[in-house]
Amino acid sequence: MTSVVDHRRDLASALVAAGTVRSPWLRRAFEDTPRERFVPRFYRSVSGHEALVDGTDPQQHQEWLRGVYTDEALTVQLTPAPDLAYGAGAPTSSSSMPTVMAGMLEALDLQPGHRVLEIGTGTGYNAALLCHRVGAHNVVSVELDPALADAARQALADVGLFPAVHAGDGTAGLATAAPFDRIIATAATDHIPPAWISQLTPGGIIIVDLRGSLAGSLLRLTALDPDIVEGTFQDLPGAFMPMRTRVDSPHRDGESWDQVFDQRNPQRTTTPVDPGLIADNPSLRFMAQLHLAGRRLRGFLRPLSGTELSGRSTDGSWFTARLHPDNDGLFPVAQGGPRRLWDTIESCYALWQRLGEPNAAQFGVTAYDDTALQHVWFDNPDSQYQWPLPL
Ligand SMILES: C[S@@+](CC[C@H](N)C(=O)[O-])C[C@H]1O[C@@H](n2cnc3c(N)ncnc32)[C@H](O)[C@@H]1O
Repeated sequence: MTSVVDHRRDLASALVAAGTVRSPWLRRAFEDTPRERFVPRFYRSVSGHEALVDGTDPQQHQEWLRGVYTDEALTVQLTPAPDLAYGAGAPTSSSSMPTVMAGMLEALDLQPGHRVLEIGTGTGYNAALLCHRVGAHNVVSVELDPALADAARQALADVGLFPAVHAGDGTAGLATAAPFDRIIATAATDHIPPAWISQLTPGGIIIVDLRGSLAGSLLRLTALDPDIVEGTFQDLPGAFMPMRTRVDSPHRDGESWDQVFDQRNPQRTTTPVDPGLIADNPSLRFMAQLHLAGRRLRGFLRPLSGTELSGRSTDGSWFTARLHPDNDGLFPVAQGGPRRLWDTIESCYALWQRLGEPNAAQFGVTAYDDTALQHVWFDNPDSQYQWPLPL
């Protein structure tokens, strides 16, 4: 039977072999930090249902331990969401995928003694990795959910680490502990919270998953001036759960999906653009959300059935596009509501092709500590192609 120490070593070696872990300190941090102490149980999706895998259950112990040392995100909390089609609830906390954590920690360029702010303590495991490099007294972690913050504080204490874990909304940073040399957000945001910019030291770095409703991407920002950060998206997919404002809701800003869509009298057209091509292309999904900034989308760009792609926006707009062409080789589209969502997607597709089908790593962000002055750009900060935040 593989021992816990072997599991840990295997995970660290796999991350090194994959090139995700490059720094010796990070390898040691993965080898030394007992993920199993931070994830005593997790949910696994089995045939569309979430099943609990509990390390204290002797029957499940081995499955649990294997899961803990697999390179996967582990959901540790579900929150009921009556307006979503989730059975037990939507995931609202997890221990992130080790590959993603490693990529972020490498991109953070942590040096001993740096003051670090983490947003989204979750299980506390990533905070423990941070402590390994900079010392627990230099780590401040903020978690929205007080129960999660308590559990993480306890798990950290159990392994002898005492960083400052605060319960609260991480968009405010933590002014009383600022300034920070590094800020790492392990929950996704649709803009750069101004407090993070003003709490960053000159030359400081922020790593965050910036995402709208369609695709996240990890962004690395550097402080250029006290009130401005700038940087590019990394070649690392972001798959973080969105930052929330309410502990009892999985939605990112208390949004609800209860509204009724008026599907009478839709506008019916055809399109030469194959909706199936758009559905599964991460680069295109990334760019589409720039075009759809500010709108909350659901079921978008992902086939809900075998025959149609459909999308709904919280402003009541909707579309469906058939995945099979008609006899003329065109794809039938129906859309309605205040905005023509499909038309926006189609014009985004045309621009994406004109720009050479870029992926997220060819885009960047300039953000002032005023949300009205934050935007995404293509290729360079002075580009003619710019999109406003929030997404
Ligand atoms: C992917 S988990 C974080 C993983 C964590 N770093 C770890 O190592 O386990 C995201 C966490 O962000 C928290 N969160 C969501 N919105 C937040 C907010 N506004 N402020 C602080 N934390 C938030 C969630 O409750 C959740 O625990």
